[in-house]
Amino acid sequence: MPNSLIIGNKITNFNKVIKVSGDKSISIRWILFSSLANGISKAKNLLISEDVLATLKTIRKLGIKSKIKNNECTIYGKGINGYTYKNNLTLNAENSGTLGRIILGLLVNSSKPIKLIGDNSLSKRDFKRIADPLTKFGAKFNLKNNKNLPITIFGSKKLKPIKFTEKKGSAQVKTSVIFAGMRTNGFTFIKAKKSRNHTEAMCKYLNLPIKIKSKKNYDFIKVEKVKTIKPINYNIPSDISSSAFFMVLTALSENSQLLIKNVNINPSRIGIIIILKKMGIKVSFQNKKNYKGEKIADIKIKSAKLIKPINCPIKLNASTIDEFLVIFLLAAKAKGISYFKNLEELNKKESPRLIWGSKILSKMGIKTVTTKDSIKIYGNPDLKINKKIIIKNYLKDHRVFMTSVIAALSFGGKWKIFDPDSIKTSFPHFLKIIKKLKK
Ligand code: S3P
Repeated sequence: MPNSLIIGNKITNFNKVIKVSGDKSISIRWILFSSLANGISKAKNLLISEDVLATLKTIRKLGIKSKIKNNECTIYGKGINGYTYKNNLTLNAENSGTLGRIILGLLVNSSKPIKLIGDNSLSKRDFKRIADPLTKFGAKFNLKNNKNLPITIFGSKKLKPIKFTEKKGSAQVKTSVIFAGMRTNGFTFIKAKKSRNHTEAMCKYLNLPIKIKSKKNYDFIKVEKVKTIKPINYNIPSDISSSAFFMVLTALSENSQLLIKNVNINPSRIGIIIILKKMGIKVSFQNKKNYKGEKIADIKIKSAKLIKPINCPIKLNASTIDEFLVIFLLAAKAKGISYFKNLEELNKKESPRLIWGSKILSKMGIKTVTTKDSIKIYGNPDLKINKKIIIKNYLKDHRVFMTSVIAALSFGGKWKIFDPDSIKTSFPHFLKIIKKLKK
């Protein structure tokens, strides 16, 4: 792949049906659950991206074999206690916060120390949020600077169940604690600010001993030690976070419409749909169905004549967390000032995304007022870009790259966007779908 992508033309007048790749959160969870199952699990439409391949490499290092053939992934699980722990084992989560954080929950009872490393971006991210609750179970940790990778986990054979409150709305932290609870005698209680619930959905589908009560902004989760997991055959639905780029492109492009097939529309992930509707954009679900505890639909979306500004309700933050960067582009074209707040977590992603959002917008000539956890965007419905814009040194954050491509295709200007290979972590087919829309 070349080291930069040049875009000099807008895209308009498309009317297409597309399919984006498999959901990343579900792909990673399916691999980990299958790695603990008694026997062979198979999945179709697994996302084949670097984050997911890193998950397969990780379970292989723990003694679990897998293969990928003809769009089907097979995992040969050896049961809930089937991992083997070699001496001096190092696992590499590469760019994946989800893998790095949730695998630790499964390692709380490892019989040998395990080192976890990651790439440059992951090495800047917070792992104390995981080490703290897992320490309460009885595992021990060495962390760089008390917070970062490399981290070494020392598992314990005398785990104690915990009571834990998750306040950030982080599904990674919640999942890690659920996984540790699945390895611990007794009842683990979690009060978790609502966040994506694919782990709980998979636990329920597998009939694992988990109980969930939902109250307003929090879920109350009770987990017990898991004795066996049955194999899971799964058809992974498409990723709404990958679809988001194309939804926004369609809304911003003239005379266009798009049908995105078979997308996961779990209610804990559809903040973007609610936001699009509030901003006056025509979007709807078709062919809704339930699948193994998840909801799926085709998403239909049309170009918007006028985009309304939004004062984004904070209760949508967790269900929109991966989509804000690209949503900021809608706010750039809205008639008025949009406001997004309580978004401290956004600066803790693969790159500081709130900062990157405001950088991209200001390069486009849009005024923003940005604080450490909020952004006000002064929209301009007549925005047309005629200058050169360069995007680089963004820690190869896939969502910064893809948002910049959507901005270039929607607003014009001459863009040079570095590191196109950043899409390999979550959405390797992204640029192929763009090509299809141009035809
Ligand atoms: C994810 C949870 C979210 C999200 C990430 C995937 C998951 O992170 O941003 O892309 O699969 O659990 P946090 O848990 O840090 O909010």
